[in-house]
Amino acid sequence: MCDEHVLSQEFEIKGGDFSNAGKASTSIKEILREIGIDSSIMVRVCIAAYESEMNVVMYARRATLTLSVSPKMLNLRLEDEGQGIADIPKAMQEGFSTATNEMREMGFGAGMGLPNIKKNADHLEISSTPGKGTSLDLTFFLNKDREK
Ligand SMILES: Nc1ncnc2c1ncn2[C@@H]1O[C@H](COP(=O)(O)OP(=O)(O)O)[C@@H](O)[C@H]1O
Ligand SMILES: [Mg+2]
Repeated sequence: MCDEHVLSQEFEIKGGDFSNAGKASTSIKEILREIGIDSSIMVRVCIAAYESEMNVVMYARRATLTLSVSPKMLNLRLEDEGQGIADIPKAMQEGFSTATNEMREMGFGAGMGLPNIKKNADHLEISSTPGKGTSLDLTFFLNKDREK
């Protein structure tokens, strides 16, 4: 677990900023393509990064998303400031969403973001303090024999 980092990069995400939404995940995709990450892992990381980023745009004030890649694993760490999540098990349920009508009209609010993040990451840790913010820690193993 004390792998030497080969890469670490931070992205800032602004809540409510729908015009820049998706930019952090697009940058992450470009970085992963450049360093030659296996494409099936890249797809999983990009889905998780995009869903995490959109949740900040929709439900938080701001966040830092940090991508770290070591020879064995890739990590996405999201730390946001915002309303937080009072009931995490409920938020993790497929179909649960507090999206507004406006967000739903833009095509968001299917309530599949957190479930898809969980499905795509090898390991997920989520913690939240209502009124303060939410943290997500996602791990993806890069070796074929994934150390679950
Ligand atoms: N970063 C976050 N801050 C506050 N609440 C969040 C955050 N991420 C998710 N949530 C809450 O969890 C719910 C479920 O999230 P998700 O599965 O991504 O569905 P959706 O984005 O479609 O609402 C959201 O509707 C929201 O209430
Ligand atoms: Mg979502």
